Amino acid sequence: MLDAYADRWALITGASSGIGAEFARRLAGHGMHLVLTARRNELLEKLAEELHTRHGTKTEIIAGDLTDPAEPQRLFDTIAAKGIQIELLVNNAGFGWVGTVDETEPSRMRDLVQLNVASMTDLTYRLLPAMLERGHGGVINVSSIAAFQPVAYMPVYSASKAFSLHFAEALWAECRNRGVTVTALCPGTTQTDFFDVANVPGWLKKHEFSTPEQVVKAALRALERRKQFVIPGWKNWLISFGVRLARRKMVVLQSMRFFRPRKKDDSASGIEKK
Ligand SMILES: NC(=O)c1ccc[n+]([C@@H]2O[C@H](COP(=O)([O-])OP(=O)(O)OC[C@H]3O[C@@H](n4cnc5c(N)ncnc54)[C@H](OP(=O)(O)O)[C@@H]3O)[C@@H](O)[C@H]2O)c1
Repeated sequence: MLDAYADRWALITGASSGIGAEFARRLAGHGMHLVLTARRNELLEKLAEELHTRHGTKTEIIAGDLTDPAEPQRLFDTIAAKGIQIELLVNNAGFGWVGTVDETEPSRMRDLVQLNVASMTDLTYRLLPAMLERGHGGVINVSSIAAFQPVAYMPVYSASKAFSLHFAEALWAECRNRGVTVTALCPGTTQTDFFDVANVPGWLKKHEFSTPEQVVKAALRALERRKQFVIPGWKNWLISFGVRLARRKMVVLQSMRFFRPRKKDDSASGIEKK
């Protein structure tokens, strides 16, 4: 599996935890050398040590904050200065936020768009042309099942993931006959730090979760099969396609029940009012 990628380099954004760290473990297991980026340098260092001991592959760490509009260029220049050619780009870094529009900091939403949309787009436009020129390579965009519908109280996050999915699918069509595969990964709820960062209602944390291992395995299988997107887990697949049959108004109104943010006095009990 993934023989064409062995002994080549992948760039993984958001590699310090969760799905990104699992991509690093799996890809190093397939013999790939890795450029890892995220803000928490110490976690990246620990991961690099683990990968070196287990797989003997090379790892470069370039820590940085991708909510800074200058960061994708800096990352690209640093990689180029090291003489590294990126064969696989994993656009994974991202965060979500659950909140009403009147209680959400605008700067947080600006950061979300910069990270989940703008930096991801910027990096892809910098790295994909060289893959096309060489006639081989791949991009994995970590989207979400939230990409298939608008989600009330997560309007910016769900829109950012719809962008990520559409962007990847359109590039898949453009690149498929030029040796490069662009695949969108659309996971459902997955066991990571995502929910603590996103301020999600307590009940969702008790929902059925996939593991990062399951999600990443599905992504790499889809990349190998040159698919334009993959939804890991049949229940997530049903949810994503079910919403296409329902009226759009119903879909978004239903999401209000599930994602209504905690009131301040609910937070101690973790109980969500519906
Ligand atoms: N978990 C789920 O249920 C789920 C479902 C669907 C899609 N996803 C998507 O999966 C991706 C990975 O999330 P996860 O679930 O693995 O959660 P996670 O464990 O919180 O990982 C998020 C990663 O993004 C990085 N990141 C966050 N802000 C950043 C910034 N400003 N600059 C650079 N890196 C930043 C984090 O690193 P630092 O904090 O060290 O910077 C971390 O490595 C996200 O795109 C998320 O939307 C998750």
